[in-house]
Amino acid sequence: MARRIYLDHNATTPLREEVVEACTRAFRSFGNPSSTHFEGAAARAELERARTRVASLLGADPAEIVFTSGATESNNLALHGTLAAGRAPGHLITSRAEHPSVLEPAESLERAGVKVTRLAVDASGRLDPSAVAAALESEATVVSVLWANNETGVLQPLSEIAQAVKARGALLHVDATQAVGKIPVRVDALPADLLSGSAHKLNGPKGAGFLFVRRGLELEAWLRGGPQERRRRGGTENVVGIVGLGIAFELAERELPERAGRMAELRDRLWEGLRATLGAVRRNGSPSHVLPNTLNVCFEGAPGEVLLEALDLEGVSVSAGAACHSGSSVASHVLLAMGLSLEQARASLRFSVGHGVDEAQIDHVLGLLPRLVARVREVGAR
Ligand SMILES: Cc1ncc(COP(=O)(O)O)c(C=O)c1O
Repeated sequence: MARRIYLDHNATTPLREEVVEACTRAFRSFGNPSSTHFEGAAARAELERARTRVASLLGADPAEIVFTSGATESNNLALHGTLAAGRAPGHLITSRAEHPSVLEPAESLERAGVKVTRLAVDASGRLDPSAVAAALESEATVVSVLWANNETGVLQPLSEIAQAVKARGALLHVDATQAVGKIPVRVDALPADLLSGSAHKLNGPKGAGFLFVRRGLELEAWLRGGPQERRRRGGTENVVGIVGLGIAFELAERELPERAGRMAELRDRLWEGLRATLGAVRRNGSPSHVLPNTLNVCFEGAPGEVLLEALDLEGVSVSAGAACHSGSSVASHVLLAMGLSLEQARASLRFSVGHGVDEAQIDHVLGLLPRLVARVREVGAR
């Protein structure tokens, strides 16, 4: 098969043609949205159109959307903007299975005197809402949890967690980066105070993201230096990227139910095929509370990095752990937090489907895997 098969949509996604066209148009109108003249007003109008599109998918008010450079910045803004702004004495509750863009700001806040509680997840990768409730000590608490885990796709019991957080008058930040565009993410149904996302995970461009900030919440800017984004994020906005983000959201809103069903069909075809052809494979994470597009599998005895390389040589792209870890043989902190051994974590691969993937591609991968897994296991055993 000459064409490559891309099964790494949780790392990033290909741009939709509609996004490319909108971004190309936006490149030609160069105004600064803060300028009051004609060119500035045109750029401002593009920005506000995108804001409305993002707000519409999320069930938010456009004024509650702050544009950022991506979810890493959104997560930093959410945590630093609430905790470093002195919700004294400051307590952050999070889990051991978060993305590094939450775990690393948590470390720096801890060094600055904020108390940080890192809760365990169970063997299926889920948090226990009663453990969140028990850890809540005061109103000066921010709880930060992933909606969907980037490595396993596991979904957290967010309604129950939100209930516990709100009962204590604390704040809830949700990193919904992997959930947006794959499952319904609505802030009119979930009482989150802050919610992060990124365009490039749903067929938009890299370098554009958002933070939902519920009306009335005081958030201090993390990037300072201008009045942009209602003083919550300084710096001239990435208009081209934000236009692409808006179109990606519009497409997601139109296609969501069909998209989710299609992803689940492909993911299930892959899993059923793997079980039928390989027998002894183990699925990591809850099979029922999971994103429709993600499958994390442990190929016991086959080092994941070697299997990844073997697949790459055959034209198939997958991931061993998070994208930011690839190239190193560091075992996934998420899988270790779920109780996998170092060896099992290192023998695990993530398959994530999305736009452009079809049944023939899945079947091709299923045809390759038994031979590759056997070869890699043989090498691993030497
Ligand atoms: C759950 C999660 N949060 C945050 C990020 C960071 O997003 P970005 O690449 O937009 O900074 C990612 C990207 O891998 C992610 O999967």
